[in-house]
Parts: sequence; C-alpha cells; structure tokens
Amino acid sequence: MARIIDLCEPRAKPAGAWGPLNAAAQRGLAFTQAVKEETDHLYELVEHVVPPVEWPAYAPLIAAINKMKRPKNAVILAHNYMTSEIFFCVGDFRGDSLALAREAARTRAKVIVQAGVHFMAETSKILCPDKTVLIPDMRAGCSLAASITGADVRLIKQRYPGLPVVTYVNTSAEVKAESDITCTSSNAVQVVEWAAQEWGVDRVIMLPDEYLAKNVAAMTDIGIIAWAGRCEVHERFSAADIAEMRAAHPGVVVLAHPECPPEVLAAADYAGSTAALANYVGKHEPKKVVLLTECSMSDNVAQSSPRTDFVRPCNLCPHMKRITLAGIYDALKDMQHEVLVPEDIRLRAKKAIDAMLALPRTAAPLDFAVGLPPADVTVLDAAALG
Ligand code: 13P
Ligand code: SF4
Repeated sequence: MARIIDLCEPRAKPAGAWGPLNAAAQRGLAFTQAVKEETDHLYELVEHVVPPVEWPAYAPLIAAINKMKRPKNAVILAHNYMTSEIFFCVGDFRGDSLALAREAARTRAKVIVQAGVHFMAETSKILCPDKTVLIPDMRAGCSLAASITGADVRLIKQRYPGLPVVTYVNTSAEVKAESDITCTSSNAVQVVEWAAQEWGVDRVIMLPDEYLAKNVAAMTDIGIIAWAGRCEVHERFSAADIAEMRAAHPGVVVLAHPECPPEVLAAADYAGSTAALANYVGKHEPKKVVLLTECSMSDNVAQSSPRTDFVRPCNLCPHMKRITLAGIYDALKDMQHEVLVPEDIRLRAKKAIDAMLALPRTAAPLDFAVGLPPADVTVLDAAALG
C-alpha cells in the first residue's frame, strides 16, 4: 500500500476541514449493521487515509447520499481535490475541471451535485440549463475567480482591440461571457495557439492566472497579455521548497500544477493539470513522489498507486474543503444551494466554453514543459487599467 508522508501538522488543518465527525448523528443517521454491509466495499478504497475509527462517522452519510441518487436522478461530479471519502465513496464522475465540464455536458441525469467549487458548478449550469445544479456550499469560491470582473475584461478589450480573450475556466460566468474561448490547465497551450491562429495575430489576452499565463508563454512564441490573478494555494510553493524536499527525500520525483510560479516549474520534474499529474504517477510509478498541488490529490492518487510513496505537502484549498459529506447530503436531501446563471450571460459564456470543447480532443491532458527560462509577459491589474 502507498505510504503517505504527511508534512502537515494535524493542528495546521483548518477546523472542520473534513466536516464534524458527529455530522451523521446530528442528521439522525447511525452506523448500523446494514450501513456497515452496504459500505464495507467502499471503505477499501479509502482505508489508506481514513482511520477505521473515523469510518462509522462517514459511512452513514455515504450510504444515505448514495441511496438518494437514483430517486432524485442525480449525479455527483467530484473534482480531484475532494477528500477521499467524497471522491471515492459518493463521486460518480471524478477528474480535473475539463473532464468534469465534459461530463456535465454529457450526463443524462436531471440533477448535478458539484463536489467542487462555484465556478465549476456555474460551468455545469452554463452547459446544462435544463438541469438542476447544486453546490453543497455557496461559499466555495476560488481566489482566481475572485480576482477579475466582467468590467475588468471589457476595459482590457478596449485597451487591446482585435486580440482574442482566452479565459481560464477558474472564472465567473460573467467573465467567461466577455471571453472568446475558455481553457483549462489540460489544454491551455493548445487553446492559446489556436486562438492566435484563428484571429491571425501573434498576441493573445490570457486571464486571469498570471502564473499559468507565464508557464504557457514559456512554451509558445505567442505573446501573452496576462492578469495579476493568483491561486492562493499554488502561489505558496517555491523553488526553495523543492530544494528542501529533494534534500529531505533523496530521489523524490517532483510534480507541479501549472498554477505554481514559473520558478517552481523550472525546478520540477514534470508539470500538468491535476489529471496529468495523476496519469504521470500511474504510468511511471515513481518510488517516491511529491505533488505540488492541493494536498487531497495525493490521498486520491495514492489509492491506485500502491507502489509509490507520497510526500504530502500541506496546501489545502479552503474553498474546496468547504465541500463535505454532510453538505452533499443536505444539498441533495433538501435540493438546496441551486446555482443559477442569468440567461443572457449564460448564452455568451456558453459560446466561449463550446469553443474550447469543440477543439480536437487530445488523448491525454497536455504536459507543461519544465526547466524552461522565464518568458516575457505583460501583466495587468486594476491599477494599470486606471
Ligand atoms: P484542474 O483543471 O487541473 O483540475 O485544476 C483546477 C484547479 O482549480 C486547480 O487549482
Ligand atoms: Fe481556486 Fe486555487 Fe482553490 Fe483551485 S486550488 S479552486 S485555483 S483557490
């Protein structure tokens, strides 16, 4: 079984990050023999991270959620950053944000519960206006999505007329509505190159993640005008962290998400979207690995990588961690926290997402090159726009 070498002090985890352990009891759900029998096979998927003593707190919620799905015609889309008891035990579809968007567009279920953050739920609603899209906690936001508004994008377009706007999916529907095409970390280079070619230009506007834009710029000749948005989780990683980890864990393979600063990608062994990182571990089975991304990813990838040990850094996304089993249970039971998008915004945002989904599908998420010198990128912020 994979070993998790946790660099996180238990006390450093935010209180309630995994939901209160008495949440099932508060909802009148008990760990009965029937619940045990229904869920024993699921425990096997999470036993490497959920201690046996905690399982009786989770299992009643898991059993109750799974029972509600069929009568409500609901599916749960679970992002790679969900904690393992959500990801493996109630998630119907699991993956990175591109895979979840594709699944939302495809599913025949009437109700989608987004086990992820708000922009992901909005993307599902934009693609499926006839479905009810629920998010277990409306406060599950994203620092990148919060960094820019539709009005900012309109000002940028005024300043750089004629350039295509490529927008990361980690944005609000309003921002997507001002964009020409969206991208994710699975396809960012492909989208930037496509947009430049389609518009017949040698520069594109790419919003709002400064580091993703710089990491893309290092891989292409297309010039990039970026925005000073950052992911509050990935911006904390540094090249010095990598040097420390390599010293403490000789031979460790370092994988980084492209929301990390360019100096991190320069020092890493491989970089890619959350799906690309998981695929890398599955394919190469390194003896010891560190994933420089949200820390629940390591727990989830470890499940199918018994021959790999994971050094797990302590970078929790506080927004992703708002999604708990109890929240999913409440959302589905009471059909609460519905995500809605005004129709005029939805239609314009959908055009940008559809443009991305229409691009030729690559067999696997595209890699980011590591070790490249930094590229020159123009970075705008609200002050620069006046
Ligand atoms: P992915 O598209 O790689 O799943 O990333 C989404 C995200 O929010 C990473 O922080
Ligand atoms: Fe947003 Fe960063 Fe959290 Fe991903 S990890 S949802 S980019 S804040």
